[in-house]
Amino acid sequence: MASSTLICDTDPWKELKAHVDDIKKTHLRNLMSDSHRCNSMMVEFDGLFLDYTRQQARQDTMDKLLRLAQAARLKEKIRKMFGGEHINSTENRSVLHVALRAPRDKVICSDGKNVVPEVWKVLDKINEFSEKIRSGSWVGETGKALMDVIAVGIGGSFLGPLFVHTALQTDPEAMACSKGRQLRFLANVDPVDVAKSITGLNPETTLVVVVSKTFTTAETMLNARTLREWISTALGPQAVAKHMVAVSTNLTLVEKFGIDPNNAFAFWDWVGGRYSVCSAVGILPLSLQYGFPLVEKFLKGASSIDQHFYSESFEKNIPVLLGLLSVWNVSFLGYPARAILPYAQALEKFAPHIQQLSMESNGKGVSIDGIPLPFETGEIDFGEPGTNGQHSFYQLIHQGRVIPCDFIGVVKTQQPVYLKGELVSNHDELMSNFFAQPDALAYGKTPEELRSENVAEHLIPHKTFTGNRPSLSLLLPSLNAYNIGQLLAIYEHRIAVQGFIWGINSFDQWGVELGKSLATQVRKQLHASRTEGEPVKGFNHSTTTLITKYLKATSD
Ligand code: F6P
Repeated sequence: MASSTLICDTDPWKELKAHVDDIKKTHLRNLMSDSHRCNSMMVEFDGLFLDYTRQQARQDTMDKLLRLAQAARLKEKIRKMFGGEHINSTENRSVLHVALRAPRDKVICSDGKNVVPEVWKVLDKINEFSEKIRSGSWVGETGKALMDVIAVGIGGSFLGPLFVHTALQTDPEAMACSKGRQLRFLANVDPVDVAKSITGLNPETTLVVVVSKTFTTAETMLNARTLREWISTALGPQAVAKHMVAVSTNLTLVEKFGIDPNNAFAFWDWVGGRYSVCSAVGILPLSLQYGFPLVEKFLKGASSIDQHFYSESFEKNIPVLLGLLSVWNVSFLGYPARAILPYAQALEKFAPHIQQLSMESNGKGVSIDGIPLPFETGEIDFGEPGTNGQHSFYQLIHQGRVIPCDFIGVVKTQQPVYLKGELVSNHDELMSNFFAQPDALAYGKTPEELRSENVAEHLIPHKTFTGNRPSLSLLLPSLNAYNIGQLLAIYEHRIAVQGFIWGINSFDQWGVELGKSLATQVRKQLHASRTEGEPVKGFNHSTTTLITKYLKATSD
């Protein structure tokens, strides 16, 4: 395929289009009765088990999808990513988040230079620094140990670390490593979020980590200034040196802000914001909370998936299979959304992380060569842990729109609870739902089945479940640091696979810029109106009215 050819012009794409009617004719109930088919749609790797038998696909569908991967030159694109080529062409950058979790002796080059030693230099610095803080050898201005950390950052400098922290918080091994310590996040510029982040904390025992790749993000910089004020008001301006550190690629701006560059933890432009959890963005706050040795296990889990993604044949390659199936669901079956449904409360922040990872990566309208796409890319990701989601939006998934679902289950709970006399334990109850929901979606319930249960005739249409709703089930052995790393990397690579197939750049995010620059204009207007009494001008009628109303109400 020539680089300017769109994937939709290739034969495998056209064959898949032609295949849709055939597949739509076959109900999942029938597909599920073919045990040979089902056996071919289960994959195991490093303790993980993927079952994609409930996808609206047969073996010949998978063969066609694999041909599509070939047409999209998926293997070559994966090699280029791992090889440090500038695949993020609109920003002229490598995409090397895999280097962030590579073993010390691995060689991964960007622009002819092995980046792994630099990665480990920062990891070693994090290890040393977090040990100083945790052991109390680094103390605050008044000589007290720094027990609490506020990580200030937004988007990719927040969502991934929050997901991992939330997942680790109830893991017994992680709990044992974090006794007496607190990790909080401050992301939103809303003053309510500022208040929540500092409520109950004492500046004397608090360390603030400012996390920003660019060190220019308006929300983060304002929040960082607010917390700098909080510290210097309580302890004097000299206290900032002991109570504030930074994570950034822009060490010049870090220094300008007033943070000692020795207390800055670097990362590199080849790490995309939403792919930065394994850089100092995530590793520093997590190591402060849990200690580096535990966090290293998380990196090892992610690295295991990197190896699998790089070297496993596509037929058994979990991220590749997941990516191809998502393309099948979005571009061929026409399902625009994906529900992320972890049956683990500890994964409550997983869907919000995947929202950014997926939607910022693949929500694009042109090919990597700038050609407008005649098909949609990306999907609308949302989700909630089961069983909570079941009591919220599952009604729509069962009887309303068709939304492919990712069911994520965990074999061994982090926190076993067993009540004497109960039929099953809490975890068995949770997992009963994890096993039942995919079948309810796939099989549904027919009017005949309802009649055989003597359901009143007028209720039959309401109680019928059409079924034939696709899902996949991913079973993790447990939810420790290693497995959390695996889960993260699976989704990172799956999303990249989707982008590689669609032929887009999954690593830039120009779509967030317009809103940011319009906000700058409004910000200037608010300042000028408040300080100089300048009338609101230069906006459309609606925005002028809204801003004027806001100014009036807040200046009274
Ligand atoms: O929302 C846009 C974005 O640029 C994200 O891609 C990024 O993760 C986030 O803002 C934060 O950026 P920074 O880390 O530079 O503060």
